[in-house]
Amino acid sequence: MATLALAGGNPVRTTPFPEWPVYNEASIDALTTRLRAGDRGEEDPVIAFEQTFAEACGARYGVGLNSGTSALEVGLQALRLDRGAEVIVSPITFFASVSAILNAGCVPVFADIDPETYNIAPRAIEAALSSRTGAIMSVHFGGVSCDMEAILAIASRRGVPVIEDAAHAHGGTWKHRTLGSIGAVGCFSFGSSKNLPAGGGGGLITDDPVIYERASGYGELNHPRRQRRRAATGVGSVHTAAQEFFPYASGNRRMHPVHAVLGLPQIAQLDAQTQRRDTNGRYLTGLLDDVAGVVARRQDSFATRAANHVYVLRYDAQAFGGLTRATFVEALKAEGIPCQLGYLRPMHHADLFADKDGELSRVWPRVGEKPAAQYSTADCPHAERACADEMITLPTNVLLDSTEGMEQILSAIEKIQAGQHELAAHSV
Ligand SMILES: Cc1ncc(COP(=O)(O)O)c(C=O)c1O
Repeated sequence: MATLALAGGNPVRTTPFPEWPVYNEASIDALTTRLRAGDRGEEDPVIAFEQTFAEACGARYGVGLNSGTSALEVGLQALRLDRGAEVIVSPITFFASVSAILNAGCVPVFADIDPETYNIAPRAIEAALSSRTGAIMSVHFGGVSCDMEAILAIASRRGVPVIEDAAHAHGGTWKHRTLGSIGAVGCFSFGSSKNLPAGGGGGLITDDPVIYERASGYGELNHPRRQRRRAATGVGSVHTAAQEFFPYASGNRRMHPVHAVLGLPQIAQLDAQTQRRDTNGRYLTGLLDDVAGVVARRQDSFATRAANHVYVLRYDAQAFGGLTRATFVEALKAEGIPCQLGYLRPMHHADLFADKDGELSRVWPRVGEKPAAQYSTADCPHAERACADEMITLPTNVLLDSTEGMEQILSAIEKIQAGQHELAAHSV
């Protein structure tokens, strides 16, 4: 039996997985040309980026912003929820989903995940509904679709909008519809690690001209881009620049043109890359079928294409003779397979909610009365177990490899299972 790489043996994989992100020479030339032209040239690549990205997602309108966090904040503002309205959200997300809710003057209410998909469970959403529910945020964790049919049904029954956090989900689909284009508004990040990397920035898409016009207004103070959007789409054209004088309590969250210049050529590649990530993900899931103790998250039939921003595994230490998850991850990395522990704590356990130095007490006046949501006792055992014991993620570039790469992942896992006893001295 081969010695494990962590114990001094040879790794299963000796060559790197594909690089990510990749900005080609044409993007880099376009970037330097743009920088030399200054930010405020007549041609605004952000308008082209917004329109091309929205069209690629099957949505009518797009608004480019300076981050995914800003996209969530602006999207929530554009929904004009009441102060103190509750927004139901998964605890398995990045804190941006939660801080955006608070910064929009609303209250995050956590609903537990499905233990096999790690996405928000419709049954838990039902249980979290209250007379104060103002919206549901569906975070497509890792780029695999939430159960949108059930979520849309709950939202429509309650007359509340759905906002999609699609920061992990560019190009992924639900019943062949692109994620982000299903709810009232869909929000994206274009940070360098994301599946559509633009070196930074974010944006939202919507089919609703009213949400679009508001998002344009909340996203930027009186910038000429708002006039350009009106010229490009006809939406909001009843106002002219001369008639309008700061009509929104807006922020300065506009996308810088350099992000649009970097992001535009990436849109053309997204479809093929997403297809590869989905195909490889399904292949790897099939390979892992016979491995005890490492199970891929479930991809339901409605999740017709997974963006696999991260590919999620569920680890069971029992099947590895009690080998800790942290040691398993170190052993897999040593075998040449990039991986990490994923989210270590669910969002209802964020320090903010413990109010240790009074930060939460400073936030509540912005949302009205001290809300009913009790974070320390939030009932999300599946999310807690996922973070504490189970979750392991493979980064997006791994899923861009060949099928042979997926087979090497299986070989590395089987090698660790067979050689687990070698790792007693390496336990972390
Ligand atoms: C689920 C999720 N939502 C929102 C964001 C925020 O995006 P950004 O970092 O561009 O602000 C991220 C970023 O990683 C994310 O993972």
